[in-house]
This record gives sequence, C-alpha cells and structure tokens, in this order.
Amino acid sequence: MTSTNKEIEIAAQLIRDGKVVAFPTETVYGLGANALNAMAVARIYELKERPSFDPLIVHIADIEAIRQLTTTSDERVQLLADRFWPGPLTIILPKSEIVPDIVTSGLGTVGIRMPANPVARELIRRAGCPIAAPSANKFGQLSPTLARHVAKQLPDADFILDGGPADVGIESTIIALNKKGFEILRHGVITREDIETLVPYYALPEEEKTNIVSPGMLKSHYSPGKPLYILGTSVPPPADRSRVGLLSFKGHDTAGYAHVEILSEKGDLKACAVNLFAAIHRLEDSEVEYIVAQPVPEEGVGLAVMDKLRKAAYRYL
Ligand code: TXA
Ligand code: MG
Repeated sequence: MTSTNKEIEIAAQLIRDGKVVAFPTETVYGLGANALNAMAVARIYELKERPSFDPLIVHIADIEAIRQLTTTSDERVQLLADRFWPGPLTIILPKSEIVPDIVTSGLGTVGIRMPANPVARELIRRAGCPIAAPSANKFGQLSPTLARHVAKQLPDADFILDGGPADVGIESTIIALNKKGFEILRHGVITREDIETLVPYYALPEEEKTNIVSPGMLKSHYSPGKPLYILGTSVPPPADRSRVGLLSFKGHDTAGYAHVEILSEKGDLKACAVNLFAAIHRLEDSEVEYIVAQPVPEEGVGLAVMDKLRKAAYRYL
C-alpha cells in the first residue's frame, strides 16, 4: 500500500510539531524528526534505544538544503549528487551551525542523503525541514523493509506512513570525502566501482583519519531475535534440519529445513539485497529455533549483503 496524500499531510504536520514519524524510503524505513529540532531528535534516540554516540543521517528533498546544513564548497558533491541523488547514497560533510549536536553525536560532520522514494520526498517537502532519520528499528536489531516491521519494533512511534515494500532493501552506501578521493564507511547497493567513475577511491592511512569510524561499522548489528549462523564459516549444514530455518542464496540444498527463504533464484545480488531483511524477518517470525544462511559471492552488491549477514551472525560466533 502506498500512503495517501492525507496520510502524508498528517505525517508532515506531526514532524512540524516536533513528533517522530516512521516513513518509507527506497532503502529501509526511517524513523524521522525535524533535524533542526534537538528535542524532537532526542525522542528518536529514546524510541530506538540508540546510544547517543551513533549519529543520524539527515534527509533532504532538494540540493539547496546542502548549503543550509553544511559548509562544503567541494565540487565533487555536486558531481555525486547529479549522478546518485535522489538515491541510496549518504555523503558525510562538514556540518553548519544550525545542525544540532544531537544529530551528529557531537561530530563536526553530518551525513546527508536525498532519498528517492516519492513518499519520503513529499514528506520532507511538506514538513518544510530536513528530516533526521535512522533506520526504524530498535538499536542493533533487524532493519525494516515493510511498515509491519516498524510496527513490530516501534509501536510507540507517533505515526507510521506505509509506502509498501522498500525497493532497495538495504541501507544506503555511506561515503566520506578526503583530499584525494572517497572512502566507504558502509557498503550498500551503490558500489565502490559505481562511485569510482566520478571520484577516485582513496582510503586515508590510519594516522590521518580525522573522522570517527562510522558506528554503522559496529561488528554486531542487524541482529534477528534468533541465532543466525553463516554456513561454511563456523558451521556445516546441520544434520537434523527439522527445526532450522534456511536463508538460501539461490535455492540449492534446501531439502529438510523447517522454513526456507530464497534470496534470488537467479543469483542476482541486487535482488538478494532487496529481499534480505524481509526474508530474515519471516524466518524470525517462523517456528524455527535458529537460522543458517548460505553465503553469497562477495562482489558488487554482494559485499553489502555479506556485511549485513556477518553483523547479524556476529553475536553467535
Ligand atoms: O538508507 C539509509 O541510510 C537509512 C534510511 C532511513 O535513510 N538510514 C540509516 O540510518 O541507515 P542509520 O542511523 O540506521 O545508519 C546511519 C549510519 C550510522 O551507522 C551512523 O554511524 C552513520 O550513518 N553516520 C551518520 N552520520 C555520520 C557522520 N557524521 N560520520 C560518520 N558516520 C555517520
Ligand atoms: Mg540502522
């Protein structure tokens, strides 16, 4: 289902009033508040039970907002925006004074993204302010790709805008710019190779790093409520599969499992990303005791998919 005009208007009014609204984006659902209202943003942390050291991404609907929110005059930003915005790319930029510290966890930089989802864009436009939004899940838990996933984890959100299933299914690629090029802080469907067509890749040596590493790089994240193991790394396929759920890459070796989710029969890695979180949510909701996942090839978007899987599995290693 896609939100009606009326629902978008209600949500926009709530954002203007300093409330917290879950809304669809093309990557995952976000939990949004007026980015310029520190009290409203504080509620996001509270609802998510998110530690205050983990900064939020600010969502914008038009490129002019960059001038308001950042102090950048870097020409590469325009180049990247022309190619990838609206879309699943977040760029870390030096923040301007109007961005409250709570949004950036006190960092001098702010992550900016222009989402492609039309409901998200209309919401930002009508709210008349940039919207700070993390993914609409409890801290460390599975990301939401359906409105229902949000309702399950965050029943206390002031409103949930339903925009149907997320098209991309995993969070945006996050990059930071340095003098010589860009670095990737979080992998997503826009890959290093995609960005390299515009800006060279250059990872700063450790001693020159000024930015903190993105907390999105925490080793444990995206954790389902049931143990998840990656096959072939720490565990072989289980002998008794009758209580085990399988997250399958292409649908091979699925016999005997209590519940099977296939990411992409054709082995299309983008499709795997789209289906990943919804498939894990279904496994979590099923009767299985634990989940095993077949690895996917670590190339292109497969890098992001394996990154999420490893983080989901980390606490069970
Ligand atoms: O696709 C997405 O990016 C989704 C949708 C809702 O837009 N949002 C999302 O937000 O994934 P969140 O909060 O779950 O993840 C944002 C990540 C965090 O790991 C945070 O540490 C990193 O972005 N981040 C935000 N601002 C940063 C900054 N100034 N420097 C470094 N990392 C930053
Ligand atoms: Mg998140």
